[in-house]
Amino acid sequence: MNSNIILSATFLVLSAIIFTLFNSQNPFSPVPIPGSKNNLHAAKLLNVTGAVGPESLVFDSNGDGPYTGVADGRILKWEGEERGWTQFAVTSSNRSNCVHPFAPELEHVCGRPLGLKFDKKSGDLYIADAYLGLKVVGPAGGLATQVATEAEGQPFHFTNDMDISEDEDVIYFTDSSTVYRRRQFMLVLLSGDKTGRLMKYDKSTKEVKVLLSGLAFPNGVALSKDGSFLLVAETSTCKILRLWLRGPNAGQVDTFAVLPGFPDNVRRNSEGQFWVALHAKETPFAKWMSSNLWAGKALSKLGNFKWLHASLAMKPHAAAIKLSDEGEILEVLEDCEGKTLKFISEIEEKDGKLWMASVLMPYIGVYNL
Ligand SMILES: *[C@@H]1O[C@H](CO)[C@@H](O)[C@H](O)[C@H]1NC(C)=O
Ligand SMILES: *[C@@H]1O[C@H](CO)[C@@H](O)[C@H](O)[C@H]1NC(C)=O
Repeated sequence: MNSNIILSATFLVLSAIIFTLFNSQNPFSPVPIPGSKNNLHAAKLLNVTGAVGPESLVFDSNGDGPYTGVADGRILKWEGEERGWTQFAVTSSNRSNCVHPFAPELEHVCGRPLGLKFDKKSGDLYIADAYLGLKVVGPAGGLATQVATEAEGQPFHFTNDMDISEDEDVIYFTDSSTVYRRRQFMLVLLSGDKTGRLMKYDKSTKEVKVLLSGLAFPNGVALSKDGSFLLVAETSTCKILRLWLRGPNAGQVDTFAVLPGFPDNVRRNSEGQFWVALHAKETPFAKWMSSNLWAGKALSKLGNFKWLHASLAMKPHAAAIKLSDEGEILEVLEDCEGKTLKFISEIEEKDGKLWMASVLMPYIGVYNL
């Protein structure tokens, strides 16, 4: 057995013992959310055959799809039961070694498409690729071309998610860290990294402007229905931030919602409410770690991904949160035991169904509301 694994196991056990001396709860058990409905296990699975990790999903303006980016770097399109998944686009031209469904060590070569959004006017698909920056591909798909790779002289390091403002002709997008890469996402959390940025790309001038910096794992992005504000999920702090774009508070940031777990992507529904996917609910241990950064740093030096991840979510589960346009929690849907769904990363509401993506699992979940 690898000595690092033994060390991290020892560390986890010791931390757990110290922790339980002061608390009665199991430190690794997710905290129950009041008013939550444990019903997501009834979701149907749409398997992403031969691939894993459909992080984001999107439908085109005809309602076709979904399209999703998977861990081997491809963007796939669902063409119905008969044809199944077909390859729509890629973000890297150097794909000869991109033959494994899950090979994190090759992500910088193969690309790792995360956030996806269609530009309704042109039908182009914009892609936030974690390693290759902001990219775009036409309605017929194929090899995506570069839109932007840096802002204010600092290259993107972990491009994550975006939303498109049709009125302003701009794209708002996040770079989760300027230190760590996507395959090290646990280190962004454990180290207390605060180097993430929110940016704006202007399609007419092709300029990238930094709107916010010093963010703690900025992740999902969603514009409000009237375009007056923009939401940014800050994963490490379990918060959704609101940046005002118009009105008397334009340019100011406030806390829109504090969540019972680590938010990934945020998507608006047709009524202007927001669905937030939690990668994992908070545990007493995770909370303790976030206020004792030395522990997170020590653990991150010792552990491999599996151990680091287990320290956050020993009991895989799924949690979906619906927020009003004022940030109140309207609904919480869960699969508490992870019977069907685990580690969801995005929720898209369409025609009475929730389509749920997952950055780690080999499927998309479809739940009838
Ligand atoms: C999807 O995959 C799961 C696990 O591999 C399997 O049990 C299930 O039958 C699959 N569903 C379909 C519709 O292929
Ligand atoms: C293509 O990827 C391989 C690794 O899979 C790398 O060694 C090689 O340098 C890359 N070629 C180009 C032209 O980037």
